[in-house]
Amino acid sequence: MRSARLSPLKAAGLVALASLTGAVSATESKGYLSFQFSPETPYYVEDGKVDFGTYNGFRRYHSECHVCHGPAGMGSSYAPALMKSMQVLDFDQFVEVVVRGRKGLNQQVMPSFASNMNVLPHMNDIYAYLKARSDGVVGVARPDKFPKVRKDAQASAN
Ligand code: HEC
Repeated sequence: MRSARLSPLKAAGLVALASLTGAVSATESKGYLSFQFSPETPYYVEDGKVDFGTYNGFRRYHSECHVCHGPAGMGSSYAPALMKSMQVLDFDQFVEVVVRGRKGLNQQVMPSFASNMNVLPHMNDIYAYLKARSDGVVGVARPDKFPKVRKDAQASAN
């Protein structure tokens, strides 16, 4: 079954499930400290500051994806504007393309990132960043971030 090969998908699903069943949802939260990623609520923004995962996503995007997809998800002549794609793709579809890669109709190639450790463990964060771009809550420039106060957020930055 494909889920065996798409273990990041599964892992992300578990994270999502955990936060869905949690008592406090991110939107009615006590703010940044209680924020947890889920595909439905992938980022947290307050006073122009983003959660650390989203900030990490900004960094990962610009080290691994920007060369083809343009700065801040705005697209290039080679690859589509991901800030637009994110209005259509759901989380699973996003993960699937990034893990498997895809061949475009005009010979362009979206490479598989299945073995890229700058990407695979940070899938949630890259998704969060691109969603925030797509929703217009994060601009083109490097976003400001909350201080690194959460252990799990720190772990995802390493
Ligand atoms: C070598 C160039 C290249 C790099 C690097 C690259 N991509 Fe792509 N990507 C493409 C191309 C080309 C397509 C369009 C493929 C097609 O036409 O089906 C694409 C398509 C996609 C899609 C599907 C978009 C849609 O509208 O269906 C997603 C999502 C995506 N890329 C995410 C990423 C992420 C995230 C990264 C960084 C981790 C990344 N890509 C890095 C070239 C690249």
